[in-house]
Amino acid sequence: MNEMIKKQLAHRTIREFKDERIPEEMFSLLMEAGRRTASSTGMQASSIIRVTDKELRREIALICNQEYVQRAPELLIFIVDLYRNKKIANEKQCFETSASDMDRFFSGFTDACIMAQNIVNAAESMELGSVYLGSVLNDSEKLCKLLKLPELTFPVVGLGIGYPNQNPQIKPKIDMELRVFENEYKIFDNYLKELKDYDEEMHTYYDLREANKRVDTFSDQVVTRMKNPNPKRARMLNNIEEQGFDLNVDGR
Ligand SMILES: Cc1cc2nc3c(=O)[nH]c(=O)nc-3n(C[C@H](O)[C@H](O)[C@H](O)COP(=O)(O)O)c2cc1C
Repeated sequence: MNEMIKKQLAHRTIREFKDERIPEEMFSLLMEAGRRTASSTGMQASSIIRVTDKELRREIALICNQEYVQRAPELLIFIVDLYRNKKIANEKQCFETSASDMDRFFSGFTDACIMAQNIVNAAESMELGSVYLGSVLNDSEKLCKLLKLPELTFPVVGLGIGYPNQNPQIKPKIDMELRVFENEYKIFDNYLKELKDYDEEMHTYYDLREANKRVDTFSDQVVTRMKNPNPKRARMLNNIEEQGFDLNVDGR
């Protein structure tokens, strides 16, 4: 097994970091790995905001409602970025652009996600740890203001990176049979039955976030999460439109 695969199979989210900066040349390599990532139609419609300002970090940690966000040596926010391409088109005297449509938005969203994962892979290859922060979207409106995001940009996910200061267990994952299908989607008769072993395995997993308590079974976690959507996120679609995107399909 090569080193890259070994690292990928040993992936764990890291939420506590040593109080140690990542050397700037290492950080540049991470950004280079991000820059080299594939992008939809080569449009490179994603960007990164590196958050170094302490007060800004504090505000973002409040949005996330996760205080460890503030302590991560590096905090990156990945964004959909169609602003740049619209300006490029405008400077070429093209004013009829598709920069704001749904297709561009989702292409930019995908670009941002895979750029982030390339950086996670690069970080893990250098013995760094990371935590994705979907919680930055708890108040996307506020985040857009804090980061001074112009029209046709939108936050996707945050990422904290640093030297690990904890040693969490590798989290068990659903069996491949339930997640990888051949040629067509496979529907199972009884998911709880299929998940029985995984549920038991999850019960043996200690989540460091929960003060080393055993976690619920996976199926119980699904129920809890499905029953409790985050009300703060209900406005997100409005906010995407306020940022200048038009997610309506033509003619509706
Ligand atoms: C899109 C996305 C958003 C996430 N948001 C958060 C978050 O806001 N806070 C957090 O502590 N972990 C977050 N995570 C980490 C997940 O909780 C973690 O990946 C998952 O529990 C599996 O654990 P593992 O990464 O150790 O395998 C996020 C992960 C992803 C992919």
